[in-house]
Amino acid sequence: MGENATTHHTNSANNGANDNQIGFKSRVSVIGSGSWGSVAAKLVAFNTLNLSSFHDEVKMWVFEETLQSGEKLTDAINRTNENVKYLPGIKLGKNVIADPDLDNAVKDANMLVFVTPHQFIDNICKSLVGKVRSDAEAISLIKGMEVKIEGPCLISTYISEQLGINCSVLMGANLANEIAEEKFSEATVGYRNNREIAEQWVQLFTTPYFMVTPVQDVEGVELCGTLKNVVAIAAGFVDGLDMGNNTKAAIIRFGLREMREFCKLLFSSVKDDTFFESCGVADVITTCFGGRNRKVAEAFARNGGKRSFDELEAEMLQGQKLQGVTTVREVYEVLRHRGLLELFPLFATVHEICSGCLPPSAIVIYSEKKNIFPV
Ligand SMILES: NC(=O)c1ccc[n+]([C@@H]2O[C@H](COP(=O)([O-])OP(=O)(O)OC[C@H]3O[C@@H](n4cnc5c(N)ncnc54)[C@H](O)[C@@H]3O)[C@@H](O)[C@H]2O)c1
Repeated sequence: MGENATTHHTNSANNGANDNQIGFKSRVSVIGSGSWGSVAAKLVAFNTLNLSSFHDEVKMWVFEETLQSGEKLTDAINRTNENVKYLPGIKLGKNVIADPDLDNAVKDANMLVFVTPHQFIDNICKSLVGKVRSDAEAISLIKGMEVKIEGPCLISTYISEQLGINCSVLMGANLANEIAEEKFSEATVGYRNNREIAEQWVQLFTTPYFMVTPVQDVEGVELCGTLKNVVAIAAGFVDGLDMGNNTKAAIIRFGLREMREFCKLLFSSVKDDTFFESCGVADVITTCFGGRNRKVAEAFARNGGKRSFDELEAEMLQGQKLQGVTTVREVYEVLRHRGLLELFPLFATVHEICSGCLPPSAIVIYSEKKNIFPV
């Protein structure tokens, strides 16, 4: 990040006195340490070691837990250099330092990577108010924003507003376990105005097996990362009903189209091209074949809708969180409020199945009224 790193650190509340000198090095903190949080720390740590404009050390905030062995998760990560609970078997890089103290984890950082399940971001941001450097840049890897009737609440916007800092997003076809094993994949950085900042994030995350592309469409990129979970639930129903690949492909196509229309309904600035980036079609495909929303939805359909998503989530995900069911409920409310449910038959049907109003088989039922196969 060279030149910019030397120039944009002049007004921080709690930065070091010499930060605006030539030779300033950026410090990165990762806020979150689940599967994706740990992989994000690994990617970033590889680059901070190799790029002279960054301090080597990457702090990773850990929501502290006690393992069955009695050891604290943070201690186990720092002892083994692995996140033994959320990403076992993967070395994070010796320069990743787990820290259970949120304030301490962020206090010197000028690049903040937010990567917790979305349900926790509210409390995290509230406790960070006044604690982060005022010149910090943030990026959100969090999928699962709230879609409220009065308007969507982008997590990037929420972070920006709460902490008074700019926030970009990184989304894509990124199942954490595969990237952890260094299998090639790609992602999209969505940014607002500042291309230079976007390029800093691209540099920080790019590795030989992880290709990152910047797109000036923060809303489109972030919304894709949330709405694809709804499509994945539909795909899981199809799998649970043993409907086969053609049906799943059809569901994916309808889903992608409804994603695009819904995004444009909320933000007229959203670009069509965004849906052809990794955050769009690629993420929908990978989530519909491999993700946890698909997996639990498959189990839901195999049980004929008789066991709730909450019960299946607790049983199948061991503390990991589902987003799709919450998102589709919120999307449904927005569409109902605007009288647009009939234009989004896939989204509407997914919610009605999740909430028990329709059986899982309704995902592929065509009717004139509920036109699931619109032209
Ligand atoms: N896992 C993936 O493959 C993947 C890929 C791309 C994006 N994402 C997104 O990344 C974000 C983080 O997901 P993840 O997979 O890293 O997490 P995860 O679901 O693997 O783990 C849950 C995390 O939440 C933490 N946690 C539990 N209770 C908490 C609390 N009260 N307060 C704060 N934290 C608490 C746990 O310690 C753990 O770190 C999510 O928005 C997810 O959608 C995940």
